[in-house]
Amino acid sequence: MTETRLLADLATQLQDIADSGLTRRRRVLQSPCGRIASVDGRELLNFASNDYLGLAGNPEIARAMADGALQWGAGSGASHLVSGHLAPHEALEQQIAAFVGFPRALGFSTGYLANLAIVPTLAGRGAAVFADKLNHASLIDAVQLAKAQGADSQRYAHNNVAALERLLAASPAKTKLIVTDAVFSMDGDLAPLPAILALAERYDAWLVIDDAHGFGVLGPQGQGSLAHFNLPASPRILLMGTLGKAAGVGGAFVAGADTAIEYLLQRARSYIFTTAAPAPVACALRCSLSLIEQGEALRRQLFANIAQLRDGLSGLPWTLLPSATAIQPLIVGSNEAAVALSTALWERGLWLPAIRPPTVPKGTARLRISVSAAHTADDIARLVNTLKELA
Ligand SMILES: Cc1ncc(COP(=O)(O)O)c(C=O)c1O
Repeated sequence: MTETRLLADLATQLQDIADSGLTRRRRVLQSPCGRIASVDGRELLNFASNDYLGLAGNPEIARAMADGALQWGAGSGASHLVSGHLAPHEALEQQIAAFVGFPRALGFSTGYLANLAIVPTLAGRGAAVFADKLNHASLIDAVQLAKAQGADSQRYAHNNVAALERLLAASPAKTKLIVTDAVFSMDGDLAPLPAILALAERYDAWLVIDDAHGFGVLGPQGQGSLAHFNLPASPRILLMGTLGKAAGVGGAFVAGADTAIEYLLQRARSYIFTTAAPAPVACALRCSLSLIEQGEALRRQLFANIAQLRDGLSGLPWTLLPSATAIQPLIVGSNEAAVALSTALWERGLWLPAIRPPTVPKGTARLRISVSAAHTADDIARLVNTLKELA
């Protein structure tokens, strides 16, 4: 292919990325997602996935997907509003709504699309969006779309309820949206949802909660962060949950009041203008939801693993952030040091990704340790001992 000026520009920018040590590479797995990942002919203990309950490789779920494919075919053939909404999609939405205790739920192919559906659809011209500074990239992009439609947006300091209240109090907007992760994806900490919901009520605002990392893990039966805090299914809440992390499959849902969900169905562009996920995915998710519901033993194992890890890592030269969830970030500091530590672990058969800016603030490069119910006590001990050796 002949070189063009456009390609040459891209090549220069790729070189800049490489010169900053920020080139990213995909690892090709020769095994299903699980506690052991087979990569480049090596077996690695996997602390790099979001498969918090170890369901991604669950054979019962895989069988539900295979049976679903035989019954419903591989593809849904159209978007939901045209002709792609099959019985398993409908049944899944009802099962999810009942599980999280909201009147209605809407299914999406990914959490990214679900977030892009909620924020710009509810926050048009004249609306104001208030977003936590550490929200996930998909929420940040969703806010950008709302701004492109004429909404105003402001970010508040991470989990700072007083700062959020000051912004709400000063805003003349009739439609206000508070937007927050429930469990922050790179820090593992929880948003103070009771206080934030109280503000949403006081200032008559919507509260959009991204529970990607709480769903399946927190609360009774893994119902998620709202249940963890014993909060009611308020009609001003839109709860987004992803289904590719603890649920081990893929997709997402938005749950809320009937009218709010109907409005998204009628208006949300990332719901309307995309092909419905394959029905076998919905079949697999229905099976996964039942396993989550009955998954107390899995959650007990997960939380025992988290406690063992936190206990074992105290006293190391790196800072373990105060997280009570499956995301356990070990702050290393510089990009180079984080990559060096991640590489040293890799060489010892442990897979822990180094997370660097711009994903996290400068100077806080870290290992994002992702704990799973699939890990054994020996796995956790191996990680702790290897980190102690490297320290
Ligand atoms: C907090 C948060 N929200 C949304 C998403 C996007 O979900 P999905 O991977 O299903 O697109 C992710 C991760 O991918 C996430 O960590």
